[in-house]
Amino acid sequence: MSDARRTLVSARGVHVVTGHIPAVASGFDAEDPDELLGTDAATLRTLDATRVASYLTARRWVRDIVTVRLRRPWRGFEATPRGVKPRLADSTLDVSIAHAGDRLVVGVVEHGRIGVDIELVASVFDQPSLARRLCTPSERRRADGLGPAERRAWLTQLWAVKESYAKALGVGLALDFRQVDAAGLRHRDAVRGVLTPAAGTSHAKIAVSWVTAAPPRSRSTIRSTG
Ligand SMILES: CC(C)(COP(=O)(O)OP(=O)(O)OC[C@H]1O[C@@H](n2cnc3c(N)ncnc32)[C@H](O)[C@@H]1OP(=O)(O)O)[C@@H](O)C(=O)NCCC(=O)NCCS
Repeated sequence: MSDARRTLVSARGVHVVTGHIPAVASGFDAEDPDELLGTDAATLRTLDATRVASYLTARRWVRDIVTVRLRRPWRGFEATPRGVKPRLADSTLDVSIAHAGDRLVVGVVEHGRIGVDIELVASVFDQPSLARRLCTPSERRRADGLGPAERRAWLTQLWAVKESYAKALGVGLALDFRQVDAAGLRHRDAVRGVLTPAAGTSHAKIAVSWVTAAPPRSRSTIRSTG
């Protein structure tokens, strides 16, 4: 499924596609939105025009994982309100989606729940208020010991890890990131992978969290490729 625009990584029932949305999104006119989106098709009409290509591309990539990689039937998405984790119709698979500029990450797990996030390394991560909202006390001490460029990249990645975890749980930004020790996650609730393409210098930080289907305070391990 990998091509010039996207890359598939699959391991242990976790399937993640990362890449760029096409500059000219072809084929959407010909596509039946009901087949792709299921009962969530109504959402399409509510989207700003700039969001349509990204929204549809994400759903196409999810469908490709489900039908090509996993060889499962495709019944679209359930209609969910904005701010609620997307759900596949008539499926035990769990799915997560993240957008940043022209970049996209989608993930599907066969068991448990998945959260993905992508963040662009940017000056917003230099703001003291952001570090206060994001970090545990020990994470702030570590950030304060880094040089400016490293600090920005590290905080961007930290945000991506915590947001991916929040999205796996389905709670989004309602999660208090200051209460989540990112390093401790490795020993707590779930198996997590952190993908950081071209780690260190990359402009984008991608994180993937996979949590067991059990309530989020069960045992866990972590796998990190970042
Ligand atoms: C989920 C959330 C963390 C997304 O953050 P973001 O940085 O703006 O956007 P991202 O690109 O990383 O993620 C967007 C995707 O998250 C997914 N998502 C939305 N709510 C989610 C939730 N509660 N849990 C997991 N995933 C969620 C959606 O698939 C969305 O993509 P889509 O618009 O193509 O459907 C944030 O919007 C949030 O906390 N939402 C919940 C609370 C909320 O928004 N309430 C307002 C309701 S009107």
